Amino acid sequence: MCGIVGFIGKKQAAPVLLDGLAKLEYRGYDSAGLAIRNGNELAEVVKSQGRLKILAEKTDNGNALVGTCGIGHTRWATHGEPSRTNAHPHVSGNCTGTGSGQVESEVVGVHNGIIENFTELREKLLKHGYTFYSQTDTEVVIKLVDYYYKKYTHDPQEAIAKTMVRVRGSYALCLMFKSYPGEIWVARKDSPMIIGIADGETYVASDVPAILKYSRNVYYIGNLEMAKLTEGTATFYNLDGDQIEKELTEIKWNAESAEKGGYEHFMMKEIHEQPRAVADTIHSVIKDNKIDLSSIGLEEEQIKNISQIYIVACGSAYHTGVVTQYVMEDLAKIPVRVELASEFRYRKPLLDKNGLVIVVSQSGETADTLAALRLAKDKGIKTLAIVNVVGSSIAREADNVFYTLAGPEIAVATTKAYSTQLIAGYILAMQFALVRNEIDEDKLAQLITELRTIPQKIEKILEDKERMQWFAAKQVNAQDVFFIGRGIDYAVCLEGSLKMKEISYVHSEAYAAGELKHGTISLIEDGTLVISVLTQSSLYEKTVSNMVECKSRGAYLMGLTTYGHYGIEDTADFTVYIPKTDEHFAASLSVVPLQLMGYYLSVSRGLDVDKPRNLAKSVTVE
Ligand code: AGP
Repeated sequence: MCGIVGFIGKKQAAPVLLDGLAKLEYRGYDSAGLAIRNGNELAEVVKSQGRLKILAEKTDNGNALVGTCGIGHTRWATHGEPSRTNAHPHVSGNCTGTGSGQVESEVVGVHNGIIENFTELREKLLKHGYTFYSQTDTEVVIKLVDYYYKKYTHDPQEAIAKTMVRVRGSYALCLMFKSYPGEIWVARKDSPMIIGIADGETYVASDVPAILKYSRNVYYIGNLEMAKLTEGTATFYNLDGDQIEKELTEIKWNAESAEKGGYEHFMMKEIHEQPRAVADTIHSVIKDNKIDLSSIGLEEEQIKNISQIYIVACGSAYHTGVVTQYVMEDLAKIPVRVELASEFRYRKPLLDKNGLVIVVSQSGETADTLAALRLAKDKGIKTLAIVNVVGSSIAREADNVFYTLAGPEIAVATTKAYSTQLIAGYILAMQFALVRNEIDEDKLAQLITELRTIPQKIEKILEDKERMQWFAAKQVNAQDVFFIGRGIDYAVCLEGSLKMKEISYVHSEAYAAGELKHGTISLIEDGTLVISVLTQSSLYEKTVSNMVECKSRGAYLMGLTTYGHYGIEDTADFTVYIPKTDEHFAASLSVVPLQLMGYYLSVSRGLDVDKPRNLAKSVTVE
């Protein structure tokens, strides 16, 4: 996610803004920029790609920019590669060269969020004579504000309100209008934003850490609300232009917990960001109940001719590939092989010339996965990357890219990126199935409708997280844990086991439930914890039988199944229920209690959840 800051008061703005952006660096970014106004003078914009210190050096730590009113931004690329041109602030006029210097434009602004309908809005604005210098959705929304500002009464509140009605997606917007010096206008929908007041000065930021040094007294701006900020004041409006009264709230967090949004660890914060991340990833390619893969670049003819799919990845990304294999083969009837990148790159794979290699990587920098991608390209096989980091090595080298919109993931143990990779896999399977006439439009519409319910179903599971906390705390001395399941449930067991191993250091194994009796069941002893996942109805009874086999050998059984399968309580010692969904998508729900299990077990054992021993967030070496 991007970082936003704004200030208006007596102090020089630029140093305050740079300081605030520095407090947001933990969120991850690829470029940064400032826009400063000195009284009635035009805004001065300075932007840079790369680390914030480059921007600080360019502006002599902000001292080169004179003015007590300004906005700043650190960009996490979603639309458009990381570059100075795509960096914010963006302007409503034209932008020559590097986009720095004084700007004539009426509107200058920064944005955090994702404008889903930016393509259609861009087309509309082009017809009205606007031109675009960047690839960003932000430039579109700022030019749209300008369009309404000029079309109606040159009133910022009205122009912003009309824009908010027209735009679909999420945004936290900070805007300055040439004709309204000494004012910052803000607007919000779904993306975080807070406004701080202290000593006759006003601060705005996308997250608490950026302003905590200056103010603990903040206003929370609601969805579809806007505000006019002046020195020491904030005036709130609804879409109709009616003024809204708000109370100041005191922030009680310290700086460290503020970075984690009040959660104890980034991992828990990111577990709770999954509904938003999943929704954003869905909305990035599904519009009006249709899947639009044009931004990924896969042509229908290509899809029709795919003879074989190879999904290649590491760790959790590999686990999403195992889920996608079941879903793709069932929906699109295309044979799928899932391969560990570290094996694929050395086993001289025989690849079908009409095959498609799909590499999956959160970081886009994993050495083994990058090597696998290069191997596939050397063999002339089409490649598609499912990646979370725009402009990463894998994203740049793959023929096609499906970007997940998880935002920056700080915890080493992946959660929200894993969940968005699952969504990407489902959507590819659904579209491939449609294009190859394996499903019709009605079936696709049904699947899309169900897919859209996943975010709220994840929310529902998280509402009951204390139940997993209680159970995990009882397992603090567990030695060897087994995760068993069949089909997609087995694929989720792989991820549940990895979560437990990598952050609680408790040894565990994921096993295909039907495979246990071929040797491994001899390891089951009195009290061995066996976690069984049962969301696939056609396999439910068989997995229950495997649970009984384990129980007869002394196992302590946890059952994870969907509401309604209450008979499981005759067999399991502890049961966790998740909402029903289309069984193709069940992994997105059943993984959440397992993420929580690993998290709470790690916390119970007093371990460093976010930075587990011996692990790196991205394994960029062999
Ligand atoms: C999972 O929690 C780990 N962080 C690890 O398995 C990770 O999924 C794997 O290293 C692949 O990383 P990537 O997605 O960045 O390629």
